[in-house]
Amino acid sequence: VPASRRLLILGGTTEAGALAERIVGRYGSAVDVVTALAGRLPATAARAGRLRVGGFGGADGLAGYLKRKSVDLVIDATHPFAARISRHAAAACEQTGIARLMLVRPPWRPRPGDAWVEADDAAAAAEVVAGVARRAFLTTGPGSLDAFAGIRNVHFLVRVFAPLAEPLPLTDAGMLVARPPFTVEREQALLLEHRIDTLVTKNSGGPTESKLTAARATGTKVVMIARPPLPEGARVETVEDALDWIARAS
Ligand SMILES: NC(=O)c1ccc[n+]([C@@H]2O[C@H](COP(=O)([O-])OP(=O)(O)OC[C@H]3O[C@@H](n4cnc5c(N)ncnc54)[C@H](OP(=O)(O)O)[C@@H]3O)[C@@H](O)[C@H]2O)c1
Repeated sequence: VPASRRLLILGGTTEAGALAERIVGRYGSAVDVVTALAGRLPATAARAGRLRVGGFGGADGLAGYLKRKSVDLVIDATHPFAARISRHAAAACEQTGIARLMLVRPPWRPRPGDAWVEADDAAAAAEVVAGVARRAFLTTGPGSLDAFAGIRNVHFLVRVFAPLAEPLPLTDAGMLVARPPFTVEREQALLLEHRIDTLVTKNSGGPTESKLTAARATGTKVVMIARPPLPEGARVETVEDALDWIARAS
């Protein structure tokens, strides 16, 4: 039984779900695992442990929650681009003296033959797109679309995981609502069908590289948006390493 009995997993990734399952599988009712989700998307699968949906109200709100619930360990397994919640977690744990581990999947790295254009953020990616693309496939998520709003003479295909409440902020665009997993075959067919010349993606990392494989196979340019900086602190890359860390912290 680990010393940390009450664990809060900040989720929203496949790894967060897998980690909850492994912890409950290993320690059973000796630990109380709660996974927190922002609640932007309907939950896809049942998960081990308990679920808490919705924001905490900033770093102070999260600190209050951690104290009220006597949480011993926070595992920040949020998406590498979910920078705000990670900052809040770091501040809340600092403030309360509660242990924190980040589980962050490694970024994608270019393979031989790849010629990605790296962009520091969505605004920089938009500048590149305006210069090189005629038909761009945006897979950056709804939060980044505004950066592309001023671009004329480029057709956009926008993929989102859930329908948007607002109309797209783009002059010439089509929308596709679909959730992963995506196969290489389907990604390739999509690129060809829509005559895409440029794929815009965040460097999310993880096993689902289908769109990158499809871009490589079809000679599609890739604009790769770099990750925002992470807070300081203990960090692992895999669910397995997170489990080891939790066991060692006992
Ligand atoms: N950004 C992406 O590209 C991306 C991709 C895939 C999945 N996700 C997942 O989607 C969720 C939202 O991402 P985001 O980029 O919008 O986050 P964000 O910008 O870092 O966070 C915005 C606010 O959403 C709330 N929040 C975020 N993650 C939460 C969680 N796991 N549990 C409870 N509240 C959370 C917090 O609200 P309060 O301040 O009120 O606490 C936070 O201040 C995260 O769980 C993330 O892992 C994000």
